[in-house]
Amino acid sequence: MKRRDFLTSAAAALVVSGGGSTWPRAALAAETPRRLQMPPLIDTRASGKLALVAQAGNSNFLGGKSVQTAGYSQGYLGPTVIMQNGELATGVGNTLGEPVSVHWHGMKISGDNDGGPHQPVLPGEVWKPDMLINQAPATIWYHSHIHERTAQQVYNGLAGVIHVTDGRDDDRGLPSAYGIDDLTLVLQDRSFDSNGRMVYEPSMMDRMHGFHGNRMLVNGQSGTVAAVPSGVVRLRLLNGSNARIYSLFFNDERPMHLVATDGGFLPQPIALDMLQLAPGERAEILVDFAGAGTPVLMSDPGQAYGILDFAIDETLPARITSLPDKIGDPLEELTGLDTKTRTISLDMGMGMMMGSGGFAINGQPFDMDRIDFNVALGSVERWIIRSSMVAHPFHVHGVQFRVLSENGAPPRPENSGWKDTVLVPGETEILARFEHPASKKNPFMLHCHILEHEDAGMMAQFTVS
Ligand code: C2O
Ligand code: CU
Ligand code: CU
Repeated sequence: MKRRDFLTSAAAALVVSGGGSTWPRAALAAETPRRLQMPPLIDTRASGKLALVAQAGNSNFLGGKSVQTAGYSQGYLGPTVIMQNGELATGVGNTLGEPVSVHWHGMKISGDNDGGPHQPVLPGEVWKPDMLINQAPATIWYHSHIHERTAQQVYNGLAGVIHVTDGRDDDRGLPSAYGIDDLTLVLQDRSFDSNGRMVYEPSMMDRMHGFHGNRMLVNGQSGTVAAVPSGVVRLRLLNGSNARIYSLFFNDERPMHLVATDGGFLPQPIALDMLQLAPGERAEILVDFAGAGTPVLMSDPGQAYGILDFAIDETLPARITSLPDKIGDPLEELTGLDTKTRTISLDMGMGMMMGSGGFAINGQPFDMDRIDFNVALGSVERWIIRSSMVAHPFHVHGVQFRVLSENGAPPRPENSGWKDTVLVPGETEILARFEHPASKKNPFMLHCHILEHEDAGMMAQFTVS
């Protein structure tokens, strides 16, 4: 289907609404749609310290009744945290009535600091990992990771974004003014009932396919417009949804220049007219808004719906007016090194059909007390990941990997850089170097990032020693 054909029918075909045009008018004080807000910013570079508290909130997303949500240091989601390489003394408190955690998704740190299911922060307690950050600049994220509770907790708001930076974005010619020409966008579909209350009531089908919402939130907001300068803008996209996979494009066919994948920069921008983003994945794109009208970021060409409206604000400085032609260093190749091969199958068995489980990895549902394998510290391994029945977004803790092939073909542009999460439509081959230790007490996880699948057992754990 050609893009033009569906554009005219896009509004009619909305399965999820997000654009300003679909915002319920009654809920707006004025005709002017609200401006998209960035999450608050915490810059840890000067202090070398980070404090976060998991807390309850009351959120009123659509102007109707409010609903209980959760967030880190606020009522829904968490602040954007700027980090740089070096030591970071961290404290994570919990004022909620249930255990939560903070897993640093995409960080190359040891298992003891990983924040996965073995490191719950109990109500009233404080978890204090001392992290040594040592990785390339990247957009990564953090979220709660309590086994069998991850889907509900992340849905309720326990997630936030991290920018690892080396302070050299100006040299790279990249926009870096937070909320002005460098926008952090957390994409989440959420389900709202007829009273406008956010609800999470997964049916049997939702447990099978993952929970999908009926409306888009960006940074926990619905129906907002992102104000941008009339120049090149950097969009840091996080798919923070439980299960929805986005195929992003602009309604006016404006190109998206991919500059970074999960683990950091590409050597040079890759122009795309469509960008796929599965749950857990991040992408940084540059978009030139010079002379733009009111472009809309949309998803799913077959059944298009709006994600976010953009509008030029001439009062914002257009600092960057041309695309850089080189961004990062050439990517280090891991091919040709001595590797061990492992096959990982993401199983949805027949039991699942009968409502009795069936979500597993290599035939075994997740067991907190079983270590599934060990990887030699410092070694490079080739993993062959196989999906059953549907495409699963596969994620590994503690590493950034490279994609060697997807169904026998070279990786798509989205998967051509460093990754920690990759959508596996059939068979995907990855290569990773395991540089950080993980003990039996605090092993690393590998799992499907459709959170309902993960909670149902499509997760395994490994040590690195
Ligand atoms: Cu984003 Cu194990 O998770
Ligand atoms: Cu992770
Ligand atoms: Cu899955």
